[in-house]
Amino acid sequence: MTGFSRTTQELDCDGVPLSAIARAVGTPAYVYSAALLRERYRELDDAFGEYPHAIHYAFKANSTRALVNELRAIGSSVDAVSIWEVELARSVGFEGRQIVFDGVGKSDAELDVAVALDLEAINVESTGELARVEAIATRSGRVARVAIRVNPDIDAKSHPHISTGRRINKFGIPVDEARALLTTLPARRALHLVAFHMHVGSQITSLDPIRRAAASLATLVHEAQRAGIALEYVDAGGGLGISYDGGPVPSFRDYASTLVEELRTTRLPIVVEPGRSIIGPAGVLLARVIDLKPRTSSSEFAIIDAGMSELLRPALYDAFHQIEPVISRDGGPRQYELVGPICESGDVVGRDRMLPPLAVGDLVVIRDAGGYGSVMASNYNRRPLPAEVLVESGTWRVIRRRQTLSDMLALET
Ligand code: LLP
Repeated sequence: MTGFSRTTQELDCDGVPLSAIARAVGTPAYVYSAALLRERYRELDDAFGEYPHAIHYAFKANSTRALVNELRAIGSSVDAVSIWEVELARSVGFEGRQIVFDGVGKSDAELDVAVALDLEAINVESTGELARVEAIATRSGRVARVAIRVNPDIDAKSHPHISTGRRINKFGIPVDEARALLTTLPARRALHLVAFHMHVGSQITSLDPIRRAAASLATLVHEAQRAGIALEYVDAGGGLGISYDGGPVPSFRDYASTLVEELRTTRLPIVVEPGRSIIGPAGVLLARVIDLKPRTSSSEFAIIDAGMSELLRPALYDAFHQIEPVISRDGGPRQYELVGPICESGDVVGRDRMLPPLAVGDLVVIRDAGGYGSVMASNYNRRPLPAEVLVESGTWRVIRRRQTLSDMLALET
């Protein structure tokens, strides 16, 4: 079994005891399993079988260099949402044509660079953005490869902060507007429409919204094809959820077959942009209990050295992450409110958890923190960004050292 398991009394990562990592690098620290990362990627890749497809890993979920390098080595392409993610991708060896560039607010400066790099596609999110890309391409004598992100007005029923497919959300171009744009394209020589794109949300746990969005995308593709526009692929976005609480989520196989069923009639390759479903389960946040104190007659606070500055998801979305001690002490379960060190009452990492007894100094792990964990960390309360460690082939190495105060102050006068 790859990843995090309890083969002995202690939780380990692919055979490496987490306590050994904590002893060497300190806490809080993100720990990733290279084997599980590769396994997740390959499972999704295999799920498409013979159907032509490309996986553009969403850098926004986690773009620590060593991790994206692992993915590059096994054939991944890139979904970037800022020119800095594009530049990072290029710096680790991805080609421009392996990169799709998303985002609802790309500045002209970003678009200038993107057009010059001849990326696989700039996924445009408004008619205004399309016009800006056109102006930049015309000015530089280039033809920009663009995809139109469609807003299919579908509720993905995820957390409202991360549902993106309804008309009231800021993302994409409504289907009727996209249809109207199509008629303008033949005359716009500086634009080459290569695909339609959708992304209706993240942490989606039912295939229904994905199926409906794909069906609406297919309809639009057919219309474009009938109008003589030779699209190159369809981009179905990311969004497949993972099981944070052990509940059922769709498998990669069912996800891929849903997309293939709905999009097969387009006869186009399918591009997907998964982030969380690839990297999420492959990472944990390792923390230490700093203090314990009474809370109610039946529960205690366990104050740990990781909070909303290291893992924002629980505070921002009330997100659930499983938490467990690295080494379980004997004794019946007790109720804990696991909180971080930040000076805010909202800095709760795990509410009302039943855990084996904890003592000051014990190590705990926060599971499924590989996606949208380290990338959303901040220096709030002047806390340094945590260290990151990659476990690979039975050994481990630091892939990002812990930030220091002087690293932070280096930017300041
Ligand atoms: N493509 C586009 C256009 C996106 O906006 C996103 C995520 C993805 C792909 C990747 O989605 P995934 O496969 O990871 O669901 N911070 C939030 C998640 C925000 C997702 C933003 N967009 C969280 O911690 O849950």
